[in-house]
Amino acid sequence: MTSQDANKNLITILLVDDIPETRENIKKLLAFEPDFKVIGSAGTGREGVDMAKEHRPDIIIMDINMPDMDGLQATNHITKAVPMSAVIIMSVQDDVDYMRRAMLAGARDFLKKPIDMDELYNTIRTVYKNHEAMRLAAKSGAATPLEALQKAKSEGSGERSGHIIVVYSPQGGAGTTTIATNLASGLMKEGIKVLLADADLQFGDIPTFLNLQAQFTVVDLIEDIEDLDAEHFDNIVQTHESGLKVLLGPQRPEFADEVKAKPQAYADILKKVSGNYDFLVVDTSVNLDEVSLALFDAATRIILIGTPTLPGAKSIRFVLDLFDQLQYPPEKTMIVLNKVYDEAQGKNATLPTDRIQNFLKRPISLTIPMVDERVILRAIVKAVPVIAFERNPNNPPVKQLLELANTIYKTLKPPDEPEQTKDKAGKDKERRSSFLQRLGRS
Ligand SMILES: Nc1ncnc2c1ncn2[C@@H]1O[C@H](COP(=O)(O)OP(=O)(O)OP(=O)(O)O)[C@@H](O)[C@H]1O
Ligand SMILES: [Mg+2]
Repeated sequence: MTSQDANKNLITILLVDDIPETRENIKKLLAFEPDFKVIGSAGTGREGVDMAKEHRPDIIIMDINMPDMDGLQATNHITKAVPMSAVIIMSVQDDVDYMRRAMLAGARDFLKKPIDMDELYNTIRTVYKNHEAMRLAAKSGAATPLEALQKAKSEGSGERSGHIIVVYSPQGGAGTTTIATNLASGLMKEGIKVLLADADLQFGDIPTFLNLQAQFTVVDLIEDIEDLDAEHFDNIVQTHESGLKVLLGPQRPEFADEVKAKPQAYADILKKVSGNYDFLVVDTSVNLDEVSLALFDAATRIILIGTPTLPGAKSIRFVLDLFDQLQYPPEKTMIVLNKVYDEAQGKNATLPTDRIQNFLKRPISLTIPMVDERVILRAIVKAVPVIAFERNPNNPPVKQLLELANTIYKTLKPPDEPEQTKDKAGKDKERRSSFLQRLGRS
């Protein structure tokens, strides 16, 4: 590695604290670590904002109590003006109220003074890693993802409407796979073709949820996307007993690297086959990397899943900020809260939906109640979606999952009504040939 390359990988840091001694001490601590580079320090909030705008550091370590403009106000400004910089607030007070205010201002993490060395290092590295998508978005320039979006739309102009619906949560275990699987299943109606794609590249759960053995996976398609044709794709996708088509993710976590090495590839594959399906539902992992950014760009709709907790709401807001940065129109994203306790279950356990809406400044489209987990696990044991297992459509969470599928179906209706006079086999044949023609033309 040349020294220039090494320089590129340094985490650049700006220190903002009104006490010169504190700044010097932190600077000394950071000097021990070869991957950090302090690019400047400021003594007031206002100066901090100016330096952030000028230098666009990766990380800003910000004191709260300062004359002129305090750290929370400065963080608020920076989050809006320099979204690629991630702010870490530090304060002697570490009570919940302070942390909450820091989060509301847009801080990505919180450090208690006096600063513990290991905690400082770990926090910087974690925040740096988690902020990667935001940096990429800011660096790529907002025009690019928008162009990509328009391109995706024109490429998807096959015979079928090919809506790509990405289900994503910035929180692990929020129910992304449960919702993606049931949405895909709920969208299947007479004559409607649905693909469920597993883009949780390392720990994809769809094989477990639907009891499918990965013979072939997306890894088999990555090599020659150029030559991808319908027949090859059909050989790779699995068919669940319900008829649902499923594109599985890498069989082993280490194969994920092959997909990540070509971050656009997964989205490109889906775009290329999109004309062969009415809906392509994509299950994702929490990772906000280039693969997921490409999928978000390609999506007609992003279903953002959160849980009604402060960390849940905070991460959702972070993702919404990222989407604003990417200039996604608000209607591209639909927010769904999962695991919502009702009053009888103890409303103190979770934040009320209206408070989350106020905090996000965006409507919540749907709330799915917390149910007895056995309902979901029993369906998994049977390898069928919950909506197929639990037949009473009025029982939660089936009612809400069906509602989600209906909303998506109604707002993204396939162009022609499916009920046509042709028999199914004839239709399939016709679909395939026109798909091949389309690939031949491109
Ligand atoms: N509404 C709900 N009520 C109760 N349990 C739920 C609900 N939704 C999901 N679960 C349970 O939460 C667990 C996590 O769900 P799931 O695997 O769908 O989440 P995920 O976001 O895909 O997780 P991962 O981050 O591991 O991919 C599962 O055991 C599931 O049964
Ligand atoms: Mg999952």
